[in-house]
Parts: sequence; C-alpha cells; structure tokens
Amino acid sequence: MAHELTSPSLSDSARSCERPSRPGWWRDAVIYQVYVRSFADSDGDGIGDLRGARERLPHIAGLGADAVWLTPFYASPQADGGYDVADYRAVDPVFGDLADADDLVRAAHGLGLKVIVDIVPNHTSDRHPWFLQALAGIGRDRYVFRPGRGPGGAEPPNDWESVFGGPAWTRVADGSWYLHLFAPQQPDLDWTNAEVRAEFDSVLRFWLDLGVDGFRIDVAHGMVKAEGLPDIGHGQQAKLIGTQRLPFFDQDGVHEIHRGWRRLLESYGPDRIGVAEAWAPTPERLALYVRPDELHQAFNFQFLNCPWDATALRAVVDDSLRATASVGAPTTWVLSNHDVVRHSTRYGSPARARAGALLMLALPGSAYVYQGEELGLPEVVDLPDEARQDPAFLRGDGQDGLRDGCRVPLPWTQDGPSYGFGPGGSWLPQPPQWQALSVEAQSADPSSTLELYRRALGVRRDHPALGAGEAVEWLDGLPEGVLAFRRRPEGLGGEGDGGEGGAVLVTLNTTDREVELPLSGAPLLSSAPPAPVLPSPAAEFTDRAAQGHNVRVPADSCVWWAI
Ligand code: GLC
Repeated sequence: MAHELTSPSLSDSARSCERPSRPGWWRDAVIYQVYVRSFADSDGDGIGDLRGARERLPHIAGLGADAVWLTPFYASPQADGGYDVADYRAVDPVFGDLADADDLVRAAHGLGLKVIVDIVPNHTSDRHPWFLQALAGIGRDRYVFRPGRGPGGAEPPNDWESVFGGPAWTRVADGSWYLHLFAPQQPDLDWTNAEVRAEFDSVLRFWLDLGVDGFRIDVAHGMVKAEGLPDIGHGQQAKLIGTQRLPFFDQDGVHEIHRGWRRLLESYGPDRIGVAEAWAPTPERLALYVRPDELHQAFNFQFLNCPWDATALRAVVDDSLRATASVGAPTTWVLSNHDVVRHSTRYGSPARARAGALLMLALPGSAYVYQGEELGLPEVVDLPDEARQDPAFLRGDGQDGLRDGCRVPLPWTQDGPSYGFGPGGSWLPQPPQWQALSVEAQSADPSSTLELYRRALGVRRDHPALGAGEAVEWLDGLPEGVLAFRRRPEGLGGEGDGGEGGAVLVTLNTTDREVELPLSGAPLLSSAPPAPVLPSPAAEFTDRAAQGHNVRVPADSCVWWAI
C-alpha cells in the first residue's frame, strides 16, 4: 500500500485548512497513541520517525480519532525509549528535526487532529547538561543527591527500589548517591528547586508556541517526594506499589505543580490540555489530578488493570465515574499503551479485545487507543532476548521487564520490508502472522478489527449519547457475566427515536455462551464478526428487534443498539 501523504508541500496546504476547535473537545475525544519509534519509519533505519508518522496521519484521521499523542521524540540517548531526555527543546536525529515536528503538527491540524506531546518532568537523562554539571559538582540541588548510610556511606541513603529493579540510588565518584526512580540513566529532578520549575514552564511554552495542543505528563504522580525521604520498610515496596501511597508517588505536593501548569495552559486559551500519567491507589486519589484547576485528564489504569469479568468491570466503571464526577471531570478510559501487555493478549482472545474496545468506546468520557489495537495486534511474547531493549528487562528483576512485546513496529502492508513499516527492517522483529493483520490486509474486510474500530468511531461520532452523553444507566436482572446499560444524549429525557443521535443500549456478554436477553433495539454495531455461513447476528438482531422479541447476544461480545 502506498503512503497516502508524501507531498513536501503538505505543510502549506495543511495550514490553509485548519479547523476551529470544538470547546471542551477533550472531554469525549478519542485520542490515538503513536509510539513514534514503532509507528512508521521514513528513512529505512528500522526506527520510526516524525516524517514517517506524518505520512501515516491519514490512517489516524481515517479511523475517526480526534487527536494524536506522540511519545517522546526529544534528544535522548534512548536508555528508556526516549523517556530519558537530554534536551527538551530538540528532536533526536533518529526521529528527525524540529522542522519535522513542525510539519507533523501542521499536517495533523490540517486533518482535524489535535496533537499532544509527552513531557518527562520527573527525571532527565544522565546526559542532560544539568546532570553532567551535577557530576562535576555544579548545581547538584537540581537533582536528589544524598550521602550514603553505613560505614563510609557505602549503603544507599534509603531503601527505595527502582521501578525497573535494583536500588533507586547510584553512587558517583565522590561517594555521594543520586536518586533514580527508574533507570540509573534517568536521575530524578528535585522539584523543590525553583530553577527546575522555571525550566519546565519554559519547555512547555516552547512546544505550545510551536502549536501543540497539550501534554501527556509522564510520571505526573512522582515529582514530589516525602520530606526526609523516609524508608518504606524492607521488602514492602513491591507489595504496596499500586495499592498505597509511597513516599515517592502520589504525594500531595504534586498538585501544586499541576495547578501551575493549568494556569500556563490556559494562558494559551481554553483548548490546550494536560493528561496525567498518574498511578494512584484509588479512583478518589486519581480524581484529585483532574480537579477544575488541575489537569484535564488522567488515565484510568484501574479500568486497564481490570480482568475480563462483568462484575469487576461494572464496579470499576461505577467507581471511576463516581470519583471523576465528584470533581466535575470526565473519565479517561484506556485499555492498552506502550507499557503494558496488549489487551488482546491480556483478555485472552481477540473476540474479548474487540468487545472490550466497544465497551470502552461506549462509556462517558474520553478514550485512548494505542497504535495497533485497531488491528487487533497481540502481544509478541517470544521476542529473542538479544532483541529486547526495555531497561526493566535489562536490569533483570524490575516490574516485569516485558514491555518490548507491545512495542513491535506496526504492519502496514502485506508485502515489502517490515510489512510497510519502512523501507528497511524494524528494530524489533515482526511475527510473520502480522502480514494478515496489516492495515492493507484488513482494510475493506468488513469482519476485520480495523473496520470495527473505524465503524465504532464513526457511530460514536454520530451518536452523542456515546462519549458525550449522560451517565451510565445499568439494567439489572441479567444473567451472570452479562452487562447492559443505556446511554442517552445530554438533555434527552426519554428514549430516542432509534435514529442518529438517539439513545443507545450497550450489551456486554463476557461469557463463552450466546445469551438471550429480554431487550429490544436496532443493532448499530456488534464486536462479534458476522458468521461466514449462518445469517449474520446483526440481521438476526434486526428481525427479532423489529418483532419486539428478545435479542440474542454472541459469546464474548459487545453490541450497541439504537433504542
Ligand atoms: C512512564 C512511561 C514509561 C517510562 C517511565 C519512565 O511510565 O510511560 O514508558 O519508562 O514513565 O519515564
């Protein structure tokens, strides 16, 4: 398949057709995550780049997304896939240059897509000029340096462990230690230092001036550490992480930083947003990040972590909506990203992944789609060790160390080097089965996952009840493993007329059996592909719904019905 957009004059034409922004666009936006190094490679070095991403933007616009989030493309030694930034105002040569970033932003705007870029404020690269100066004894208070404990200060200053495994401290030549919650190549900044705060304000302005529409804030819960850097207790960290606040995560002090950034964003108008990558122990703690004077969105990782279980899913949806409603914010749903096992594999089958996607896209609020989930890509679980680059894997005993399997470059075409990822190879090997999962292979196949996502985003756009509508209304008394809820457009009292823009019924069957439900509605979309020989479920639903009979809902499916 040829690249759809290669014109060097794109930037100019894009400038001329920028669309005005819808107020509060982010509240129900579908935002597509581009993991730049694995999306599209324009120069054949096997690593995705900004130009490659620009050329493939029509795929994202064609899917029906509202915005794109680009993972870090800044100057970096790439010790953690670019989350180790050496210069926040420069593009790494492996990804292109500033002109490419500018072209990408203009081209996206020309296609009606907003652009969110990643900002990494918790730590810099150990090659950042500030850290090089710190090693030379200059400006050490921009980082967290402390003397060691024990005889000769030979023990780390406290018992904190790196998220990637091993101690969170590394000793430098003069005997003192510096803190790194992630890899040793990612020294933590000290956010009590005014110079650090001023520098990040300036970095945000730099990208806002270039035209970006917002920031995904990396480790937004980590910048402030508890006073005195207290010990956690031997062996406790792994048990407590994710369920309780730790002295380095979700400290109250981070909120003041986010308030400052909100003011900065608003000085550019109402449409620029901040989205928190914040791991908080409860939905209530997470909601604090999206109070009216803080960030606009925070990824709902509780939803992402929820197993394929109807009761648990309903509880997470309710808890999340309740918590965000208490601060007047929408919820931000996500099923996959570049740090977790792809949900097709997590849920145990592509059918469930498709159903999970329709569930997510039918919930009130915004949703993030991670590149490749629209192709139903599974996690690649058998990468050879020598190909892996995740620092967590290289450090051995960290988190899980298996984040490369969700970062394998996308297949675009059925043939050609790296299935159209680029004119050369790909930095991680692609499984041969991905030929059949390529964008080219799935386009125009009505049973494909790609077409399901395209239709889902289209139906969602045509039905404001989905995404932007009022609260979820659960229907009770259904068989175990089955959920159903109604969504109504804002301000619509009764049920709709079943046409565009009306109310929608959503059924989710998490069981492995077809179920019959005492409901009626005209099918809008089903995650279960039409059976090859038997009449399609959609046709059957239509007949039965028209007759006012029960509807039959396939195993492991989510169906949207107009009511
Ligand atoms: C975030 C990123 C992850 C990175 C880490 C350290 O969790 O999503 O990829 O390794 O922060 O920056």
